[in-house]
Amino acid sequence: MVRQMSHDLSQLRKFVSPEIIFGAGCRHSVANYAKTFGARKVLLVSDPGVVAAGWVADIERSLSEQGIDFHRYTNVSPNPRVEEVMLGAEVYRSQGCNVIVAVGGGSPMDCAKGIGIVAAHGRSILEFEGVDKLRVPSPPLILIPTTAGTSADVSQFVIISNQAERMKFSVVSKAVVPDVSLIDPETTLTMDPFLSACTGIDALVHAIEAFVSTGNGPLTDPHALEAMRLINGNLVQMIANPNDIALREKIMLGSMQAGLAFSNAILGAVHAMSHSLGGFLDLPHGLCNAVLVEHVVAFNYSAAPERFKVIAETFGIDCRGLNHAQIRQRLVEHLIELKRAVGFHESLGLHGVGSSDIPFLSRHAMQDPCILTNPRESSQRDVEVVYGEAL
Ligand SMILES: [Fe+2]
Repeated sequence: MVRQMSHDLSQLRKFVSPEIIFGAGCRHSVANYAKTFGARKVLLVSDPGVVAAGWVADIERSLSEQGIDFHRYTNVSPNPRVEEVMLGAEVYRSQGCNVIVAVGGGSPMDCAKGIGIVAAHGRSILEFEGVDKLRVPSPPLILIPTTAGTSADVSQFVIISNQAERMKFSVVSKAVVPDVSLIDPETTLTMDPFLSACTGIDALVHAIEAFVSTGNGPLTDPHALEAMRLINGNLVQMIANPNDIALREKIMLGSMQAGLAFSNAILGAVHAMSHSLGGFLDLPHGLCNAVLVEHVVAFNYSAAPERFKVIAETFGIDCRGLNHAQIRQRLVEHLIELKRAVGFHESLGLHGVGSSDIPFLSRHAMQDPCILTNPRESSQRDVEVVYGEAL
């Protein structure tokens, strides 16, 4: 006889991931993967900086060698916009493409994901804001990241900038996890120190937020902790030694692990607030996170003290004999030190944010899906106070 058991469904966790190929030089195998999807013509999404770095030419060479036709689309801003997604989908259709490949940082990758959604549904990308709004599978998607941070190449997130409203919005769905992610650390050799710092801090914040998220669990925790260890232990050295491929590989691996963690455990208030800020000021995403991170950690600590203690220990802080107030203080100091060591001395005020902007920013942060998994339940007033501390 089968025993009847009661199941607490709230404890179930799922884990989604693309097929991942990790290693130096793997970008050259893109045509093999495109072929397995029956590629006739590829829409190749990138941006002018990545073209100049030479990575687009590598992808085109691989496709040409296998006789796969392609059309290059590089009309992508640093914070990709609604119009760029819509135009890209039109180009995808008019060029008769049937596979999408993106090479670049978070911007071309998010734009490519958006193009896939619009190409499949035939409606504006604005209609898909929120969680699980997609109904039709996107065309086959292969992503090749050239930064070690955003993890758009493994995540179920798309972040698009709505310039008309001065805000960013998120589309969250497992249907936007790409089919294949070719993670090639060599492509990060062309990142300048500022971009390396922005993307590295973004990846570290992904790991921290995933570990304390209300969606955390045994499937994501090991990835989050290993990401923290790798990034905390190697980011400063990597920026000081930009041509050291072994260090680039460690940070790329850390970024990937942080991506697997946050894509499945979701994020928290740093990202909710940073999306709002990035939409308002069109600033680099990693910079927005860097400005906010220690303030949000200080705010959140009391909601998950044991987890924050594990984070502190992972960063090498000796917590023996310390109470939680002391650990919280040491953790905040560590984050500030790390930020300074990679070149961040920023505050919101330095970027022209004034106290009169805070209600607008906070309203939008409260509408971001990432606020829902923040470990400490936050009211708009709480978010306003944290923005105020970061001024
Ligand atoms: Fe991020």
